[in-house]
Amino acid sequence: MTIKSTIETMLRPYPPLFRLASTAYHRLRGGMRSLNPDTVDALARAFELAQREDAVASSAEPFGDYYEFGLFRGYTLFKAYEIAARLGLEEARFYGFDSFQGLPAATGPDAGDARFFEGQFACSRGEVERHLASAGMSMARTRLVEGFFEASLTADLKASLPRRKARIVLVDCDYYTSTRTVLHWLGNLVGPGTVLLFDDWDSYDLEPGLGQPKAFEEFLEAQPTLRAEALGPYPRHGASFVLREGA
Ligand SMILES: C[S@@+](CC[C@H](N)C(=O)[O-])C[C@H]1O[C@@H](n2cnc3c(N)ncnc32)[C@H](O)[C@@H]1O
Repeated sequence: MTIKSTIETMLRPYPPLFRLASTAYHRLRGGMRSLNPDTVDALARAFELAQREDAVASSAEPFGDYYEFGLFRGYTLFKAYEIAARLGLEEARFYGFDSFQGLPAATGPDAGDARFFEGQFACSRGEVERHLASAGMSMARTRLVEGFFEASLTADLKASLPRRKARIVLVDCDYYTSTRTVLHWLGNLVGPGTVLLFDDWDSYDLEPGLGQPKAFEEFLEAQPTLRAEALGPYPRHGASFVLREGA
């Protein structure tokens, strides 16, 4: 356990104190930095796997695009761009989705848990754009979509996209409800060969009926032609999967 997570565990029973400390911590530690450095390694493994599978299959299809739901300061979005550049994936596009106001109010099964709170991880769109620009990310193949997913992930938005396959998807939005909305919206943008990373897979200690596992289970139930092959957990709370054809 890190010092940070020990302090978090100590403060969680006192929500106002936890909120204050968390907000002050993120404000003091400015800049574009990771909440979880292990996500970057998991992303690299995901891109490498997908590229290897295309090479083995001698696929003539384009690689597909990168989707990230939950950007905070833009760090993992930039890292995905950097990894793709290193691997020579020059045609991949990068879609980043966030409220830019932090987490929404917790509802449904997410309510009543002190781990997360409304407004947590807020970072304005302007600030994220500045971080990405100063890191050297080209915006020519990048699109940021602003808003709470429940309002921003619309059929019109989907129709406005080139409808290429979502090849690597990072779902880093903490809540079951947000994850459910994201997966439902993605629908047929994902398919066999898509790698999905859930950064909050066991944020709720894998308690049945909570968190990202519940949302993914429901998604798979609604997609009888797809199954998920586990690629394994990654620290601190993540897990990744590749979608395959078949029940
Ligand atoms: C843990 S942070 C993302 C961290 C980022 N991927 C990184 O590693 O640097 C979670 C983000 O999800 C966003 N988020 C969560 N639920 C959302 C929703 N329903 N609509 C829009 N944004 C949401 C929050 O605004 C926050 O920026």
